[in-house]
Amino acid sequence: MAKQERTDENMSDGTDVFQERNGQLYAEEVQVQELAARYGTPLYVYSRGYMQSRYRALAGALAPAQPLICYSAKANTNRAVLRTFLEEGAGLDVVSGGELFRAIRAGADPEKIVFAGVGKTQEEIESALHEGILFFTVESEPEARRISDCAVRIGRTGRIAFRINPDVDPHTHTYISTGKRENKFGLDLERAEHAYAMAAALPNLEIVGLHLHIGSQLLDARPYGEALDKVAALCGRLQARYQTFRYLDIGGGLGIAYRPGETALAPEAFASVVLPRVARLGLKLVVEPGRSLVGNGGILVCRVQYVKASYDKQFVIVDAAMNDLIRPSLYHAHHEVRAVRAASGMLHGDLVGPICESGDFLAQDRDLPDVGEGGLLAVMSAGAYGYAMSSNYNSRRRPAEVLVDGASHVLVRRRETWEDVVRYESDGSDSGQGVEHV
Ligand code: LLP
Repeated sequence: MAKQERTDENMSDGTDVFQERNGQLYAEEVQVQELAARYGTPLYVYSRGYMQSRYRALAGALAPAQPLICYSAKANTNRAVLRTFLEEGAGLDVVSGGELFRAIRAGADPEKIVFAGVGKTQEEIESALHEGILFFTVESEPEARRISDCAVRIGRTGRIAFRINPDVDPHTHTYISTGKRENKFGLDLERAEHAYAMAAALPNLEIVGLHLHIGSQLLDARPYGEALDKVAALCGRLQARYQTFRYLDIGGGLGIAYRPGETALAPEAFASVVLPRVARLGLKLVVEPGRSLVGNGGILVCRVQYVKASYDKQFVIVDAAMNDLIRPSLYHAHHEVRAVRAASGMLHGDLVGPICESGDFLAQDRDLPDVGEGGLLAVMSAGAYGYAMSSNYNSRRRPAEVLVDGASHVLVRRRETWEDVVRYESDGSDSGQGVEHV
């Protein structure tokens, strides 16, 4: 228990919303055990207070620049989460037609939506043009051409900001590093100016800015400084050339503490690197944070099914799996594991799910609270890229999501049923007539 209390403290980013009190894990003012009993497991539990406080901390630190903060919806797309940020005045960063649909449905102001992604389809571009989004971040010359074609066809103007790949190392996991020369994202610096000139000559396009997103889970602000320094001269030339050039979107990527002793990238540290550079350029700052606003505001609660020993290892088998939270399997990401009700001891082993793959683990080779069969565990830091990356693998139902706000809680997505899992299928014997064709 003493160990867990230390964990709270060490992982603090000023917003401890999952705390242990009297041997019980709380989400804000609600006992997690109560939520598990009420809604079942596996269960995602989110703290609204956490999201609000992280948003306000970032907005406060960046206030001198009066930025547009576009919450990166991909981190956690639940409508209640989107609403939480929209009510704070946020815009949204979307990356697909589906996310755009969610954004509009949640009541986002289209003029505060930016649309990223290397492979936007004609359908996605046209719906974004219809909605009148703020701008597209554009990843290639052919994409600029396609946006122009779409805009001409439907009689709109597409606002664009090319994404530049500045070739800087964000010092993060290779899968989520996006601003190095070998990554598929953005255009190299030399190419960029030609791309802008090419786009400027196309009909129904307006050049409004420049975009960067160098990676995710950055714990050091310096790479942002490096990236901004690399594009500063280019921004100056573009501003001089295009009167409509006014936004500098530096993406997201602010890292959070996943481990005890790890320190999140503080909004103030980020601001101290970004603000002076943006002020010098006189451009309107746009940021696209995802993880830093939700990551430590969510947990995945699961119930122990069995504890087994095999050879010299112990396995704690729970009812959550890689389909619910894929980060450990995909990136070997570390998530703390805590007892929902204080355990008397610890056991050393792997925390695994029921899926038939050895890659199905939530924690490996760890000291885990020994809660015993039927006991509840919380996988921490699961608010970002948790539910959003979940799947139905092994025909598992996706879990429920609950939003806690002070002492109240509300189910914001019900658990899927087995019917939900097979809903869109046909066995072909009715020529697919049972299935709607889109
Ligand atoms: N803007 C763009 C263009 C992005 O591609 C991303 C994330 C963000 C903003 C938000 O980044 P954040 O602030 O959340 O770091 N699934 C991985 C993370 C993938 C990030 C993809 N892009 C994970 O679980 O760590």
